[in-house]
Amino acid sequence: MSDPRDYLCLALDTEDADQARRMSETLGESILWHKVGSALAVQGGEALIRDLKAAGKKVFLDYKFHDIDQTVANAVSGAVRLGVDLLTVHAVAPVVRAASTAKGNSDTKIVAVTVLTSMDESDLKAEGWSDGAPALVRSRAQTAINEGADGVVASAQEAKMLRDILPPSTFIVTPGIRPAGGDAQDQKRISTPASAIRDGSNLLVVGRPILQANDPKGAANAILEEIAGALN
Ligand code: C5P
Repeated sequence: MSDPRDYLCLALDTEDADQARRMSETLGESILWHKVGSALAVQGGEALIRDLKAAGKKVFLDYKFHDIDQTVANAVSGAVRLGVDLLTVHAVAPVVRAASTAKGNSDTKIVAVTVLTSMDESDLKAEGWSDGAPALVRSRAQTAINEGADGVVASAQEAKMLRDILPPSTFIVTPGIRPAGGDAQDQKRISTPASAIRDGSNLLVVGRPILQANDPKGAANAILEEIAGALN
């Protein structure tokens, strides 16, 4: 039977690495995957990643690399040496190609960010894209997989569409998860843990519903139960 902890990733959107460490300790065995974003990169991220790996945790490095090939390759090689399990790059063909080549045959998965959830239709139009976000997500996801990405990041509401068009082995990562009745906050296209799993998500990224809960461990365990229910 699959372990629901393999499907839940805590977004460590904390002020600094020490706060992130305390949160990870509070959650203990409930949380396996931890997402470290670019804010922590400049506030003790590397040491935090080493500590998480030493504690047997899985690390999702969400630095969203987007640069010239050599720089992307060097960054990915460094992340592989650190032992991160998953990392993000932007879904731009040369970037994904450089990252996939640099990862070689290591176990680190490369996932591509298609369209940032902060971009709305008018932002996309200003960049010369008028066919709407879903079409752009679809086209960038296909490009990323063709260039060797292991998966994509998408809203859970796009997961089903992507699951249908991408190869079955594609690893789909979904933020924007809210337990039923939870506060959406600034997330616009949300799904519950159970529906995200049913739509084919491989990893649910959850931040504030756990980080800001009165009882973070209780909140994480409730999400794990919901995931377990959907997996069965
Ligand atoms: O909303 P929550 O705190 O659960 O956010 C978890 C992760 O979702 C964040 O670390 C960020 O990567 C992503 N996010 C997003 N769109 C937003 C807000 C957060 O994709 N509007």
